[in-house]
Amino acid sequence: MKAIVYERYGSPDVLQLKDVEKPIPKDNEVLIRLHATTVTSGDWRVRSLNVPIGFRLISRLVLGVWRPRQPILGTELAGEIESVGKDVSKFKAGDQVFAFSGVGMGCHAEYKCMPEDAAVALKPSNLTYVEAAALSFGGTTALDFFRRGKLQRGEKILINGASGGVGTAAVQLASYFGAEVTGVCSTSNVELVRSLGADHVIDYTAEDFTRNGETYDVIVDTVGTAPFSRSKGSLKERGRLLMVLGGLPDMLMIPWVSMTSTNKVIAGPAAERAEDLLFLAGLAQAGHFKPVIDRRYPFEQLAEAHRYVDTGRKKGNVVVTLEHDE
Ligand SMILES: NC(=O)c1ccc[n+]([C@@H]2O[C@H](COP(=O)([O-])OP(=O)(O)OC[C@H]3O[C@@H](n4cnc5c(N)ncnc54)[C@H](OP(=O)(O)O)[C@@H]3O)[C@@H](O)[C@H]2O)c1
Repeated sequence: MKAIVYERYGSPDVLQLKDVEKPIPKDNEVLIRLHATTVTSGDWRVRSLNVPIGFRLISRLVLGVWRPRQPILGTELAGEIESVGKDVSKFKAGDQVFAFSGVGMGCHAEYKCMPEDAAVALKPSNLTYVEAAALSFGGTTALDFFRRGKLQRGEKILINGASGGVGTAAVQLASYFGAEVTGVCSTSNVELVRSLGADHVIDYTAEDFTRNGETYDVIVDTVGTAPFSRSKGSLKERGRLLMVLGGLPDMLMIPWVSMTSTNKVIAGPAAERAEDLLFLAGLAQAGHFKPVIDRRYPFEQLAEAHRYVDTGRKKGNVVVTLEHDE
């Protein structure tokens, strides 16, 4: 099968289209023939080792010290089950599914095996493969942080980076959960963020949310420009800062924040849970959640998709499509 492989960390130039062995499903696995995958900020970070301050060494230890241990990137997919292992009971050949392989990656390929109990779910029938491929990365990240931050109906939440992959999911989900949502983005994304359900939108090129006197129960920072030192004045008593992106120095401050204020900072990698995929699929099927698709690229141009994602300016999600000879 074809796959996009990288054998060293670096720019999108390290990505190469190669023929690799087609995987064979184990007894508890399904073999999925991909129709679409995505290039996320996670792919960019893992490919380039451009990680938040303080995490370079640990990233190398996890991902491979000298070269990547997993040579195929990609965390999300949508496609059709081609075959199943003998113990699989939840899925059958022909099922249309989407999946999130998370840190296991490996979705930038024509085929991918996943255990049936992993984050695999039937594709909502009202979404295309392109849309379904982009359901998981931002959606599961937002859900996990909202759960850890105990977001409640009626609370005021501000989402910094509301137009990105995580932000566009967070705005929709927070709005669905009944929070009063303020999105922060640049001028060209104001209408997009409003259309996703934000009650208020702040254009960061014209206004600094940390200086306008407003306070929030929850602040989500997906950009890294609103650490506690900068956003504490915008948090209410018992307010929570959900630091989706933060460096090690900011994380080391977390116990100090808890000891010296009523506020809480929540950080770290989002958990990958199969139930969250089912939840997102249900919301999508009911019309309450729809991934925002920015650009699409054919599989052969996956390196171009990386180049665009590397700009840090994408709106929602970037999808890569695969054609198969029937
Ligand atoms: N903790 C975890 O488990 C976890 C999980 C997923 C992602 N992450 C991290 O979270 C970060 C965000 O991920 P993502 O996928 O959402 O990234 P993304 O899609 O690449 O974010 C791009 C968006 O960021 C916006 N942006 C850039 N500078 C901004 C600023 N100063 N203020 C407000 N918005 C700004 C851009 O809008 P404009 O062009 O309008 O500026 C663009 O729409 C990444 O660094 C990723 O590594 C962490």
